Amino acid sequence: MPQRRLFVCTNQKSGVGEDVVKALKKELKAQGVKKIFFSGEKVSTRIQTCNCLDLCKHCKKGSGAALIVYPEGEVYGDVRPKDAAALVQHLAGGPALPDLLLKDE
Ligand code: FES
Repeated sequence: MPQRRLFVCTNQKSGVGEDVVKALKKELKAQGVKKIFFSGEKVSTRIQTCNCLDLCKHCKKGSGAALIVYPEGEVYGDVRPKDAAALVQHLAGGPALPDLLLKDE
């Protein structure tokens, strides 16, 4: 079964990354999308912490965390726990989150 992984930076002193991880895990369960059919395949999603994504320039813009969605390669910055529901909806095929999506540099 293909896996989608979200790598969330937890290197901030504020601990916001850990809070984002908890919120994302809670939303995956609440929305029932930990394992979903997506584009004709059953896809499993895992939320993982990582030390740092080296996107601190973006982290300093706000008080949120940076994260990368693999294998899609979407990069988000300034993600806060309140964004978890919309982000999980997006992973299940919902609307994009252009305000949080970071452009290639
Ligand atoms: S502190 Fe890790 S990406 Fe900003």
